[in-house]
Amino acid sequence: MFASRIDDDLELRPLEERHAQELFEVIDQDRKDLRTWLPWVDASRSADDIAAFIGSARQKLAVGRGLTCGIWHRGRLVGVIELRLDPAHRAGEIGYWLGREARGQGSMTRATRALVDHGFGDLGLHRIVLRAALGNRASRAIAERLGFTLEGTLREAEWVNDHFEDLAVYAMLRREWHGA
Ligand SMILES: CC(C)(COP(=O)(O)OP(=O)(O)OC[C@H]1O[C@@H](n2cnc3c(N)ncnc32)[C@H](O)[C@@H]1OP(=O)(O)O)[C@@H](O)C(=O)NCCC(=O)NCCS
Repeated sequence: MFASRIDDDLELRPLEERHAQELFEVIDQDRKDLRTWLPWVDASRSADDIAAFIGSARQKLAVGRGLTCGIWHRGRLVGVIELRLDPAHRAGEIGYWLGREARGQGSMTRATRALVDHGFGDLGLHRIVLRAALGNRASRAIAERLGFTLEGTLREAEWVNDHFEDLAVYAMLRREWHGA
């Protein structure tokens, strides 16, 4: 079972149903901000909705289709990072979010680096993708900081609340990864 203590402050662990209430509170507190870029926020109205999301993540974990981790900063749950897996192509795709209080300290860059290490290491992946809305500077900065290559733009590819977003597609190949 994957678990990663990144440093004294930061830890990644697969989410379990017992984390649903705490995770719901983090989302609920920052819902207005999070919904700017995340299409699922409006539909997350209760801890039960989050428990259902975690249940589905646990099923994907069981069949090798994904790894969804909580991010704990100094023992407090502050966000989520996940690696969706496509085993036939040894491919993965990372998605993430952080509550507002936890931003601006490099935590997500470190969490992403740890998950990419795990993907290219233990999971034997060949390619890892990161997609972010063109206007989502903070998210794109993580891909760029870690040396991902910008491959192009998917036009109007994601429906977010009431409009389509263009997505920047970044990718890292196993042979390019030096844990930047
Ligand atoms: C995307 C998101 C996770 C980025 O959060 P973030 O805090 O900017 O990312 P990091 O945790 O990597 O922190 C980077 C910031 O910490 C700073 N920082 C401090 N120490 C650092 C370190 N050791 N390493 C890297 N950055 C560091 C960086 O300069 C940067 O700050 P800046 O934006 O003022 O330049 C966050 O904005 C978010 O959750 N947004 C809403 C949801 C979302 O958009 N998800 C992504 C959808 S694709």
